[in-house]
Amino acid sequence: MSVWAIVVAAGDGSRFGGAKQFARLAGRSLVERAVATAREACDGVVVVLPPDGQWVPPEGVATVTGGVTRSESVRAGLRAVPPDAETIVVHDAARPLATRALFLAAVRAVEAGADAAIPAIPVADTVKRVSGGRVVETVARDGLHAVQTPQAFRAEVLRDAHAGGATGTDDAALVEAAGWTVVVVEGEARNIKVTVATDLELIDGLMGAE
Ligand code: CTP
Ligand code: MG
Repeated sequence: MSVWAIVVAAGDGSRFGGAKQFARLAGRSLVERAVATAREACDGVVVVLPPDGQWVPPEGVATVTGGVTRSESVRAGLRAVPPDAETIVVHDAARPLATRALFLAAVRAVEAGADAAIPAIPVADTVKRVSGGRVVETVARDGLHAVQTPQAFRAEVLRDAHAGGATGTDDAALVEAAGWTVVVVEGEARNIKVTVATDLELIDGLMGAE
């Protein structure tokens, strides 16, 4: 079975205040860490980068230039994945602590027959919809999950979901909308997505506590 990973690292990091994928965590950039783990778990890796070429990938890792949205960046990566890849994993460079085991759990679920498999964690907090500083709704928490990457897909399913050029915050959303079935695997509490600058400090603290 041929498994390829697309690591998306072409965002602006507007909430972080700059291209967070190149920020360093204990000496190694977020993209470097994400790519290293993807390489341990997959047969091939494509990294999607901004146009200005700030980062030189390790030997054997393909690079392409991303698009304006995350979904466009994934599609740029997809075009560089060999046609005979059977399973494709999409991972955010902004999640440097995802483990090889998590990649493998998602891939195994797809190899066992799922169209798609995504890591998810049940939401522990009470969730409310807020507008203009006021609560407008308390959302029933039953069944709510926070979803992570790496997300694994049958290659045909991911290509089909992206064929219409749709946009979503993750790939599973497009796959669901296309009518395919998405299963969940247990997410990792430490698999935090770096969104704002303080997330980097948080992760640094987690790593220091190892
Ligand atoms: N990403 C990408 N191409 C884009 C947008 C996002 O490859 N056009 C990547 C980011 O580099 C990141 C991942 O998708 O690894 C998750 O996106 P997000 O956390 O939203 O990162 P940014 O879009 O860079 O940040 P922001 O939304 O704050 O601008
Ligand atoms: Mg974004």
